[in-house]
Amino acid sequence: MSDKMEVYYFSPTGGTKKVTQIFVDAIEKEAKWYDLGKKDTIPEEATSELTVVTAPVFGGRIPSVVREKIKKLKGTGKKAITIVVYGNRAYEDALLEMNDILTENGFTVIASGAFVAQHSMAPEVGAGRPDQEDAKDIRKFAKAILNKKNTDGVQVSGNRPYKPEMNMPFTPISLPTCKKCGVCAKLCPTDAITITDNRVTTDKEKCILCMACTCACPEHARILPPPVQEKMEKMLGALKNIRNKNETFL
Ligand SMILES: Cc1cc2nc3c(=O)[nH]c(=O)nc-3n(C[C@H](O)[C@H](O)[C@H](O)COP(=O)(O)O)c2cc1C
Ligand code: SF4
Ligand code: SF4
Repeated sequence: MSDKMEVYYFSPTGGTKKVTQIFVDAIEKEAKWYDLGKKDTIPEEATSELTVVTAPVFGGRIPSVVREKIKKLKGTGKKAITIVVYGNRAYEDALLEMNDILTENGFTVIASGAFVAQHSMAPEVGAGRPDQEDAKDIRKFAKAILNKKNTDGVQVSGNRPYKPEMNMPFTPISLPTCKKCGVCAKLCPTDAITITDNRVTTDKEKCILCMACTCACPEHARILPPPVQEKMEKMLGALKNIRNKNETFL
């Protein structure tokens, strides 16, 4: 394998980026990073011999912003490694969906992994992950790829047709302590937030509930509506004391 790779990632609250960084460090190749959450366009075609694509799991699928962008990335016979990062519940069809898109675009996906990070809607679930144990698993995965002789495409878990896409009828809200600084509007990957007449409004049709705005607000003034937050914590609460595992496919 050559010494260069390109890394396409989406990490609205930082967990996917942590996993990706540990992986990239362990692979020890010069990496060019592309943030799929930014409004910049990405290359139309992968130029390095190796491409890494990483994304969080949203409702057992990959986020729509990732799907739309990677659908336009041509692989023309190049190798890819895929990673999905899930919040200790389940990754369901996310890895399969990502691999299907890349394969359709001409990549050979030679290895895939699903790793756990803290749940971005219920932080007590998967709290503190990826931790030291996860880092070991991620490095082991990288090492196995470097030692891998067979570079055929991998088979991963998941079902077709994929789960229907999640459709939640709410968005984060801004509290009265909001200073209208515009940080959230600037970083929202779908331009769902507008600040006009000293009011923050969120377009429900555009919001993908990625939680980037709640994580980045310097005033801690951007939150899920409290009844929704409570419901999420109740729904996911049982997973607080369970340690779901990382899975790899080589
Ligand atoms: C809208 C939404 C849906 C999610 N769906 C799932 C899911 O289906 N399964 C799961 O285990 N975690 C789920 N999560 C948790 C994220 O996959 C997890 O926290 C991930 O680490 C977030 O990545 P990030 O920190 O890079 O933003 C969801 C999070 C959000 C915001
Ligand atoms: S980042 Fe926070 S304080 Fe700034 S406009 Fe958004 S909600 Fe308000
Ligand atoms: S408004 Fe929605 S899409 Fe935009 S950053 Fe916030 S949660 Fe993500």
